[in-house]
Amino acid sequence: MTEIEYPTTRESSCPFAPAATVREMTRDNPVGKVRIWDGSTPWFITRHADQRALLNDPRLSIDEKRAGYPHMTRARAASAPHHPQLITNTDPPEHTRLRRTVNAPFMVKRVEAQRPRIQEVLDDLIDDMLDGPRPADLVQAIGLPVPTLVITEILGAPYQDHELFQHTSHVLISHESTPEEAAKAGQAIGAYLSELLDRKTAEPGDDVVSEMAARVVAGEMTRPEAITMANAILIAGHETSASMISLGTLALLRNPDQLALLRDNSDDPKFVANAVEELLRYLTIVHSGIRRIADADIELHGTVIRAGDGVIFDLAAANWDDAEFPEADRLDLRRPARRHHAFGYGVHQCLGQSLARVELQVAYGTLYRRIPTLALAVPFEEVPFAMEGVAYGLKSLPVTW
Ligand code: HEM
Repeated sequence: MTEIEYPTTRESSCPFAPAATVREMTRDNPVGKVRIWDGSTPWFITRHADQRALLNDPRLSIDEKRAGYPHMTRARAASAPHHPQLITNTDPPEHTRLRRTVNAPFMVKRVEAQRPRIQEVLDDLIDDMLDGPRPADLVQAIGLPVPTLVITEILGAPYQDHELFQHTSHVLISHESTPEEAAKAGQAIGAYLSELLDRKTAEPGDDVVSEMAARVVAGEMTRPEAITMANAILIAGHETSASMISLGTLALLRNPDQLALLRDNSDDPKFVANAVEELLRYLTIVHSGIRRIADADIELHGTVIRAGDGVIFDLAAANWDDAEFPEADRLDLRRPARRHHAFGYGVHQCLGQSLARVELQVAYGTLYRRIPTLALAVPFEEVPFAMEGVAYGLKSLPVTW
């Protein structure tokens, strides 16, 4: 049986690609093991078909409090026993109840209603960038502010507070944060959101925290549940979309034929929507594996995963599985890519996926149409990647036009 250190470093030949060892495991050894930070060796599931089957299998649990759960980092292992119940650490039926309390604002119809506002936000940011000096950093100018503005408006938090959000969410998802740093960031954002919840109870608006405040008053949700949920939405909705905007731009600049195709089809919403799916597949930014623990013995390809064993799903491996996506290493904006696992799969599939899709469709559909001469201002090799988080991204993306 193959066993590798995990998370693995990426290939230097293509920083978007899963490591060659991971791709070999997908091909030759579908039930391998990985060694993680604490020396334990959870199972490692990489094939697209296996992930579809298992991520929908009630014998796998996301209960991070169980002994043997394969935590992402030392900081997470230290904080897990203190986490309240949350959609990200409960199984059905509790998960179903909690998720129902936040689903509505993230449904396709509600998110589609935000499209004109997202377009306006993006157009203003592009105007500002074009008025400013060249080169510009696309991460700071467009990548980060778009999702920050959108998520703060959805939550009902004032945008002036964005530095606190950006800082705390970065600390909370970075693998380099110490448990103390993570705890401090968690307390700061918890105190902020608690106060926001009070304000929204007294003066409700048309936003997610106000909806949760009403549920707390009605006894449908506890106060800690509401605060933790708002925190999860803030963190999850932040760097992920920001990374996708910047990395997608870099991947397109690296594949000029595909960039030209997208530019020429920017007014075709169907083409742009599919291009977003393909970029989500190709980049698969959540790169450190989603984690579960087996509740019962599960047989897979003749091997038995025992009850109590940790299981890691590498989403990038499934999205680069040639059996599902032929010539997976090729960025091909025309390929049918919608079955990708960039948002995970099964009951925990990303809550914010419709929102992320609209943000990305607006961003990719607008950026290269409005700035047709957009180009890298440094050689590709000098673009600084940020690999240390749950999702990878770029520290900066110097561009000119
Ligand atoms: C391109 C952007 C995004 C990517 C690639 C992404 C990826 C993911 C993945 C892979 C999961 C599954 C985790 C698991 O099963 O263990 C997930 C869950 C989740 N995402 Fe996202 N996400 C993105 C944007 C967002 C946004 C914008 C929001 C919020 C507004 C959000 C909120 C959440 C939440 C709350 C969960 C937990 C759902 C549950 O456990 O039921 N995400 N996301």
